[in-house]
Amino acid sequence: MQALVVTPGAAATARLADVFEPRAAPGEVLLRPLEIGVCGTDAEICAGLFGSAPKGEGHLILGHELLAEVAADGGGFAAGDLVAATVRRSCRRCAACAAGFPDACLTGDYLERGITRLHGFASELACERPEHLVPIPRELGRLGVLAEPASVCARAIRHARSIGGRQPWEPARALVLGAGAVGMLATFFLRLEGLEVLTASREGAGSDKAELVGASGASYLPVSDLEESGDFDLVVEAAGSGELMARALGLLRRNGVACILGIDGHSGQVSVDRRTLGVDVVIGNRALFGSVNAARQDWARAVELLVEVGTRWPDAATRLVGLRVEPGRFQEAFDYTGVKATLRFA
Ligand code: BGC
Repeated sequence: MQALVVTPGAAATARLADVFEPRAAPGEVLLRPLEIGVCGTDAEICAGLFGSAPKGEGHLILGHELLAEVAADGGGFAAGDLVAATVRRSCRRCAACAAGFPDACLTGDYLERGITRLHGFASELACERPEHLVPIPRELGRLGVLAEPASVCARAIRHARSIGGRQPWEPARALVLGAGAVGMLATFFLRLEGLEVLTASREGAGSDKAELVGASGASYLPVSDLEESGDFDLVVEAAGSGELMARALGLLRRNGVACILGIDGHSGQVSVDRRTLGVDVVIGNRALFGSVNAARQDWARAVELLVEVGTRWPDAATRLVGLRVEPGRFQEAFDYTGVKATLRFA
């Protein structure tokens, strides 16, 4: 069968290859991937900067943003059911993984499908254990391919609420930095939760992304126009810019919380104003935290939120995935600058 593979650690090796068909081991569910979303992590793996192959193998099958159809009854699922799958697997030796929270793994020795030491789902068939599958309601349809990035947002919002909630806090205004899939989904989800949202990104005020942000009732601002207003209860950094991450601290109100979701692996320094860090963060009880991956409860919430987005903003919801290409055209998907591109397997 065909799969999208890379040689981890080497640049520009992504290719469609013939690989062995997986056979479902006892207890596993056989899946027919329908659509696989691509993201910045996949691009980094393709650039040879991230990712690793399963032990003893030279290649890694990509794909961690899965929407699949169950191919044969099993594990409590029926043939034809739509499912997504969680990404991270337990390191088997830490308290967080033992408690069912590999998203908070304490050793860093976790595995991740399509990223770290486990093949992903960008192939014609794949297998997974039922406990790692997430049911996708029929009404969500192809939008279910956004369940993975949505779960990352759901975790971030849950953690932000819990960190902010350590003291009296009434989040009313949020700033989202970045309008890729994670920034855009965070925008829509925070709007659903009733917050006033400003989303700032690189694109101009008349861009498609600006319009999509506007469709959710949020405001859009080219990030170059962002001022140090200190006016936000919540800042979500989803642009992957170290400079913006550092600036987030200065954009918060009293008791404000900033969450970093983007990754910036570049070397170099960013600077933070001494008074922002040494006075405002302290006197204003502000917090900055990072968040990655998602727990089972975040996946459940993500699916609920996506259904709500599809119901409340049906037109905008269909525009979130702006490019769907067959697997052989993977480069177009990687080069896409809209919100989300996917590979269509079936
Ligand atoms: C994925 C996460 C994963 C992270 C680090 C992200 O692109 O969405 O599930 O944990 O990469 O590998």
